[in-house]
Amino acid sequence: MIEAKIRGLGTYVPERVMTNADWEKILDTTDEWIVQRTGIRERHVAAPKEVTSDMGTHAARRAMEDAGVSEEDIDLLICATASPDTLLPSTACWMQPKLGLEGKPAFDISAACSGFVYGITVADQFVKSGQYNNVLVVGAEMLTRMVDWQDRSICVLLGDGAGAAVVSSQGEGGRILGSRLHADGTYGELLWIPAGGTRMPPTLETVEKRLHYYTMRGNELFKIAVKSMADVTKELLEGLAMDSGAIDWVVPHQANVRILQALAKRLRVPWERVVVNIERYGNTSAASIPLAFDEALHDDRIKRGDNILFVSFGGGLTWSALIVEW
Ligand code: UT7
Repeated sequence: MIEAKIRGLGTYVPERVMTNADWEKILDTTDEWIVQRTGIRERHVAAPKEVTSDMGTHAARRAMEDAGVSEEDIDLLICATASPDTLLPSTACWMQPKLGLEGKPAFDISAACSGFVYGITVADQFVKSGQYNNVLVVGAEMLTRMVDWQDRSICVLLGDGAGAAVVSSQGEGGRILGSRLHADGTYGELLWIPAGGTRMPPTLETVEKRLHYYTMRGNELFKIAVKSMADVTKELLEGLAMDSGAIDWVVPHQANVRILQALAKRLRVPWERVVVNIERYGNTSAASIPLAFDEALHDDRIKRGDNILFVSFGGGLTWSALIVEW
């Protein structure tokens, strides 16, 4: 049986850092509110000329270098994003020529903050089936360009960044043990962009009413987030006949530090075993798990042989979990 492994990882964040104090200058908010309610202190913001596919390309190149693979070795490119360059074509297609992957299959995954885990799971299937040897999975988000900078209920929460992984049939460690994906579209309007699609095509009125920005009912999402991430983890552990004690590290989607504290409690995982970097990046949606994972690998917290749980939750609603034996 063919195994699928995470063979290399790469990340990218734009240079500009925006602190809570910077938001205080332009919005009715405070550093105290943002830190207490979310744990966020600063986030990265893309340069005006940058687009999502640029950030994804930087992360992808670093992942390929880390994996020791070249353009010829990559069989498929998947980009998970909720902040695409354009509605058409996909961000994966914009990224493809920048990576020298012309002719290779490329598509986007629209699963919001769960996109990276969804993407790795799709890659896992292609590799295990024997169809492809190396799949490049990118989570790239430019959320600061998708939110209304006058809407304090959401704009202070988000940040820009990208992460990428090469999922391969070859390599040392990084074995994907299993995953579980879920979605429930009946909650779609808890986190969505009302206008700009077929449901409400863009008009002067939709722009005036600011309906082409992200809209979020954060309070309702909060409760569902904790429960669904705990439930999908338990389901996955059961399926793998593992106990939560076997998890060495939890690398969760970074939406709110309070969500992560509640999740750790429910899973009975010590807080020191949860990788948290939301204070420096904010919520970067599909990029948040690779950004946190990369950091914990580079500061030597995560060691070869450790079992790592990726768990995520986001718009859709979507939620998912995946375990890797590093
Ligand atoms: O990425 C995956 C999807 N996203 C999530 O999972 C996000 C989940 N939700 C959350 O993280 C939290 O619900 C938020 C951080 C979004 C909000 O925290 P909260 O503790 O649920 O606050 P709230 O929405 O209940 O608002 C409390 C108060 C309100 O004022 P009143 O009505 O009590 O007077 C808001 O108007 O805080 C006010 N508020 C703010 N105040 C200062 C909302 N945003 C801000 C702000 N600065 N930026």
